[in-house]
Amino acid sequence: MTPYCSICWDINKVKLLDQRKLPREEIYLEITDYHEVIEAIRTLAIRGAPAIGVAAAMGAALGALGLKTEDPQEFAGRFDHICREIAAARPTAVNLFWALDRVQGLVQAHAGEPVGLLKERLVAEAQAMLKEDETINRKMAQAGQAVIREGMRVITHCNTGALATGAYGTALGVLRAAWEAGKRFSVWVDETRPLLQGARLTTWELGKIGIPYTLIPDGAAAALMAKGLVDLAIVGADRIAANGDTANKIGTYGVAVMAHYHGIPFYVAAPLSTFDFSIPDGSHIPVEERSGAEITHLWGQPVAPAGAQALNLAFDVTPSDLIAGIITEGGVARPPYASSLKALRKG
Ligand code: MRU
Repeated sequence: MTPYCSICWDINKVKLLDQRKLPREEIYLEITDYHEVIEAIRTLAIRGAPAIGVAAAMGAALGALGLKTEDPQEFAGRFDHICREIAAARPTAVNLFWALDRVQGLVQAHAGEPVGLLKERLVAEAQAMLKEDETINRKMAQAGQAVIREGMRVITHCNTGALATGAYGTALGVLRAAWEAGKRFSVWVDETRPLLQGARLTTWELGKIGIPYTLIPDGAAAALMAKGLVDLAIVGADRIAANGDTANKIGTYGVAVMAHYHGIPFYVAAPLSTFDFSIPDGSHIPVEERSGAEITHLWGQPVAPAGAQALNLAFDVTPSDLIAGIITEGGVARPPYASSLKALRKG
């Protein structure tokens, strides 16, 4: 059992661990208004593609509960509007849109039912999505843990643990399953500028599991690889195109290029809800651009001259030819991805 949860539903409330405050403080936010869920997603109080998906579904359920109408048609129209508002919170992680499509589909499938029943269905669906996410992550971790071998030194970027998901984790879940299977290895944790998901969150989670790690500045990865100190790279994903091109936290592409240059296998772990089969390749993935203040300031303190220009792309896209394998709950897809991913999708 993980001794914390990223998000849960608690009698008409969403409870989420405020990741902006970690590791200094463990504070759970209790939210009853869907606008606050949008704010939590936007400001990264809750983050990581699968966790964003669950938060979107729970936010939609909260929004539904607040609708004061007994007319099913009016309810459906106003519910769609709420879903559109939630969809605008962040653009890259496709799990957000996947989750909203699913809850909107549920309302459409039960069109005309009494509003009270529709609300109950939406609350139950959001809770089911949280549960499913854990089951999927555990399956994915079992499917992928064979890539982790005794004594390996593994590098990871950003945070992909229980915090970034409903529970257990994606890339970190694979490491956790390998550790629980008795393998002993160590992890290089990229700090992950500018919001330090690696330094603040991945170290926190690895520490709780007991996996030995060493935190490094993002810029140190190449030197460690050149010294022969890295055996494998593993990351999560925010959106994977039909050809396997993968959007993940800014800096991931750099890790993949470096790994390729040094002959180190680079793996991605992500649930099928992170795949976007509607786009042929990564050039179609919308990349979030966040405020430059996240780069020019650290904890509110300026680290650049006043007025300094900063470009803050939150994600980059790793071309699939740099990826040794994509670990999913359906198994590990290998190149060529156009066909292996299609087969996975069909199950
Ligand atoms: O901006 P964030 O912190 O939401 O970005 C998260 C990532 O890039 C993760 O690596 C990705 O969502 C996979 S989470 C299992």
